[in-house]
Amino acid sequence: MRRNPRPMRPRRCGSCSARAGAEAASRSLTGGPAMVICLCNVLTHQQIAAAVAAGADRPHDVYAACGCQAQCGCCTRTILEMVRAGATSASR
Ligand code: FES
Repeated sequence: MRRNPRPMRPRRCGSCSARAGAEAASRSLTGGPAMVICLCNVLTHQQIAAAVAAGADRPHDVYAACGCQAQCGCCTRTILEMVRAGATSASR
């Protein structure tokens, strides 16, 4: 039996990721209960929102501000949506 040479990565559709990012951005504004966005590094939406408010303008900056780095990368798209939402709300 042949093994797949490339490991499978969990897939998310763009819609799910955008929805999660928008929900996380909304929660950061309303102060609702913590939602873990990055399971590998156990980063909550509040930590990510704080990093964005402190000036992080890309996911790499968010990880750095939280003292970690991307592991599996599944959360990167959601963090990017939060960064974009933060940039949009900051420019208003
Ligand atoms: S869930 Fe964030 S790096 Fe894996």
